[in-house]
Amino acid sequence: MSDHYPFTLNPLPYKPNDLEPYIESETIILHHQVLQQRYVDNLNIALSRYPQYQDWSLKALVAYSDTFPPVLKNDIQKYAGGIFNHDIYFNSMKPGGSTPTTETLQQINQYFGSFENLKKGIKLSALSVFGSGYTWLICNGACQLQLINTANQDTPPLTIVSPLLNLDMWEHSYYLQYKTSKEQYVDNWMKVVDWNKTCDLLSCVNKRTNIQ
Ligand SMILES: [Fe+2]
Repeated sequence: MSDHYPFTLNPLPYKPNDLEPYIESETIILHHQVLQQRYVDNLNIALSRYPQYQDWSLKALVAYSDTFPPVLKNDIQKYAGGIFNHDIYFNSMKPGGSTPTTETLQQINQYFGSFENLKKGIKLSALSVFGSGYTWLICNGACQLQLINTANQDTPPLTIVSPLLNLDMWEHSYYLQYKTSKEQYVDNWMKVVDWNKTCDLLSCVNKRTNIQ
């Protein structure tokens, strides 16, 4: 993706069928090439009327969306948020998933007690999303692992926290394959997660102070 307007769709970090059988290619293609592309197109349309924001990065648009004129703010939150959130979602998964390394496990054990507890916590959080939204694993303001939920295409406050991975609980993420069985979707999503995303004090601070 270009770093500013006009934005383009980031390619997937794997082929659409690489996550099968857990996430089928039909779902991935619809989700990425159709739905995320729509967010890209709509963001470009919204920004085409505001040249003063056309050199802003996606992350800056998301992080400072509260500062935009009201007529633009809603579009930025929906469309820039939709692109940002989906980039995190698609990069949270990798073919075959991963096993936490010793360093990752140390952090997981410190904040959740065990890897099993983290997975239980993610599942509980994801199933508690009402309507459309996401469950996130983030580094919070103290650079500690934490689970949070967001609604719609809202994004965690990027000037305070650093997102590590997320689970898209919008119906379009699972309905084609799993129909109403959100639980099965969440269980199978766990099998393709790249768990090795940890909090690092230096990168936590850098990520928040270098949003441009
Ligand atoms: Fe989605």
